[in-house]
Amino acid sequence: MISPETSAAADMAEDTAAAWADLPTPERLPVRTMLEEFETVNVLAPLVRCSKLPFRHLVSLYETHITHTPMILAEEFSRSQQARVSDLSTSSDERGVFWMEPRRHPPRVEPGALGALEALRISDERDADDPRPPSYPPPTTVRVTKTLHDTRPTSRLPPTPTPPTQNSRLVRGALLAQMASPNGPSLADAAELIAPHIDGLDINCGCPQRWAYAEGIGCALLRKPELVADMVRCVHDRMGWEWPVSIKIRVDPDLRRTEQLVRTALAAGVSHITVHGRTRHQASTDPVSLDKLAFAVECVRGEVPTVANGDLWDLEDAHKMRRECGVHGVMAARGLLANPALFAGYDRTPVHAVENFVNLGLDYGFIFSLFHRHLAYMLESHFVKPEKTYFNALSSSVQVVEYLQTRGLDFGARRKVPMWDARRGYSLL
Ligand SMILES: Cc1cc2nc3c(=O)[nH]c(=O)nc-3n(C[C@H](O)[C@H](O)[C@H](O)COP(=O)(O)O)c2cc1C
Repeated sequence: MISPETSAAADMAEDTAAAWADLPTPERLPVRTMLEEFETVNVLAPLVRCSKLPFRHLVSLYETHITHTPMILAEEFSRSQQARVSDLSTSSDERGVFWMEPRRHPPRVEPGALGALEALRISDERDADDPRPPSYPPPTTVRVTKTLHDTRPTSRLPPTPTPPTQNSRLVRGALLAQMASPNGPSLADAAELIAPHIDGLDINCGCPQRWAYAEGIGCALLRKPELVADMVRCVHDRMGWEWPVSIKIRVDPDLRRTEQLVRTALAAGVSHITVHGRTRHQASTDPVSLDKLAFAVECVRGEVPTVANGDLWDLEDAHKMRRECGVHGVMAARGLLANPALFAGYDRTPVHAVENFVNLGLDYGFIFSLFHRHLAYMLESHFVKPEKTYFNALSSSVQVVEYLQTRGLDFGARRKVPMWDARRGYSLL
């Protein structure tokens, strides 16, 4: 016999499922269009060893609209099947589905936000030669109709069945592959191979490590604007000129170099530009320079969207960055490692994010050292010192899961939910 409670619960589940039934198909937009058309676009940075599938899926549950793979070495990727297997795993459900608010006006630096910007302006001569106004022109929306991105259907659903406002649009998130290459042809080869699985390619012009510099990749490209432009053109020649190619750069201590790099890349047809507001020689403990970031954004003159990166630890940092740099999107790296739900407004990792990560990690499969390291980053603010020491000494996934269970985490509960809930990403069945 069905008890009144059971039947009430079944009715409620049916009502809730019905609420999700009429959702429109999420729009699939090129990253450039997402950045241009929506107010608040949040990005997960490329992170060697860390921005892999389970972590990308996790942050996409918490208002992170665009994610990046870790830096992939283009030559290796083309040459070796083993490299391809280890560098890229993806799933049709890793991209989130979001309600996004259309932009009301182009991004702009709020008056008075950056007192120091005047001092950084390196030359006014540029404006004399350039017929365009120095202020941001309204963004030109380029609707790319022929992209090669993943068109497989997704079963993901947005966080709520009803749009938060009457203007909200339902949009599918995007995945960019970040690649490092010392030349254009290798990059084009790798782009061709990876294209069916991703929504665009980002060129790493910011890796500061010595080995990378010696190989002619990463920061070695910051002062080689013609080579960067050649890479962009090579990929476009191979993939079609509309195919999205972006660059991620660091600011240069000599800002004329930044300007030259940005202008040359724009002339080559780059689709958006991400700027990390530290120079090649600055450690990640040095504060990021919002002034230099704003300068780099100003060099772009609104021709393509921009994303700012560096020291983003909470939503207030994100607002500040948008306000003071006039960017279209903001990117976090260490902030998301410490708190994957940062962009959803949590001030530290919520318990459900840990539970979701464990389920995602176990379902997708994640090597123990990375699984363990991610959890250590996420839980750092929850642990006192002896707990950290104990947790860091654990040596298998079973030990980690058992330990977290003793701390009250219930991973199983997240799996015992109806299918529609699973499709929201709260559980993988
Ligand atoms: C563990 C780790 C791995 C990183 N790997 C990459 C990478 O593969 N490609 C890249 O462009 N930057 C990489 N970076 C730099 C970040 O993308 C980001 O630019 C930098 O950490 C500054 O952002 P943050 O202040 O939010 O951490 C890495 C940073 C960290 C901490």
